Amino acid sequence: MKKSVVMMALGAGLLANGAMAADTESQDVKMINLAHQSGCVTCHSIASGGSGPAGLKPIGPAWQDVAKKYKDQEDAQEALVTTVLNGSSPYASHWKGEVSGFAMPPNSVVINKEQANELVGWILHLAD
Ligand code: HEC
Repeated sequence: MKKSVVMMALGAGLLANGAMAADTESQDVKMINLAHQSGCVTCHSIASGGSGPAGLKPIGPAWQDVAKKYKDQEDAQEALVTTVLNGSSPYASHWKGEVSGFAMPPNSVVINKEQANELVGWILHLAD
């Protein structure tokens, strides 16, 4: 992954509340801000390899790992948008043993379908 995305991820906490000048707003910044505003980053990091609170496994999978896992799956975009909006089932975890969270709650209260679609599209390219 591009280093700049990681740097922006680190800086995005500061940017989340203040809109950046429109002409400098790249897709990376836009998506990182959306992830912050929607609360995704409470449970997800963007870059692989981070740990969760108190050194536990991360709560949810790093988005770079998500990109790697689904890179060859054709319906990944659609399937992940559905999971992001509706949440995941603790009985059918896709990340069993790899994360400390049992399941993802539904995010449709904070993000609409178009936003989820754009964010998932961006996530799926993070391993390029
Ligand atoms: C409360 C914690 C939490 C929040 C908030 C959260 N997630 Fe998750 N997310 C998880 C967990 C836990 C998993 C792993 C689910 C599993 O094991 O199948 C996950 C999995 C995922 C996956 C992979 C799903 C799969 O089937 O492999 C994607 C993509 C994702 N989250 C995106 C998002 C986005 C986008 C947001 C914000 C709109 C978000 N998450 C908010 C906890 C969270």
